[in-house]
Amino acid sequence: MKTKVFYVIALMGFGVVSCSGSNNEGQANGEAEQVEEVQYDSVLGVGDFMDFKVEEGLNSGLALKGKGLYDSKCASCHSLKNDVIVGPGWSGVTERRQLGWLMNMMTNTTEMLEKDPELKKQIEKYKVQMPELSTSDEDARAILEYMRQNDGAK
Ligand code: HEC
Repeated sequence: MKTKVFYVIALMGFGVVSCSGSNNEGQANGEAEQVEEVQYDSVLGVGDFMDFKVEEGLNSGLALKGKGLYDSKCASCHSLKNDVIVGPGWSGVTERRQLGWLMNMMTNTTEMLEKDPELKKQIEKYKVQMPELSTSDEDARAILEYMRQNDGAK
């Protein structure tokens, strides 16, 4: 009987060993994630727009489409001035941020909120996080043009 108990304990011991084995693997994964975070580009953010440029002049048709989208989807939280409704006002946003960063923020909001150190800090300031609105690339581009117009692009 005693030998049987020993046998069971030995098996349990083996279980613990193999568990800690997989824990080590977990740690290795954790390290890989950290490396990824270090690689986050705080100027351009993360998403499909890592190499993004616009033509200098304003595309007023596109800006008008952007205004429509802003009015229906963004105006409840974002002012066009400096004041905070729920999120930051958009006055000067195209100077504060790279245009690629803004495109990534609009189309890849959740990942940006997870990875951008400055956005993480803002969570306390704004209390609410920007929801994932699944804005399409095209719509984001139109809203960006409206932001540029708001900041004086002609
Ligand atoms: C429910 C409120 C809410 C709505 C609706 C909303 N946002 Fe936001 N947004 C926020 C908050 C809050 C932040 C600040 C970042 C954070 O802490 O989540 C933010 C941040 C941003 C930023 C970064 C601005 C900066 O100065 O860094 C951009 C760009 C942005 N939102 C775009 C949009 C667009 C485009 C829409 C509409 C399609 C939109 N948001 C709709 C709440 C909202």
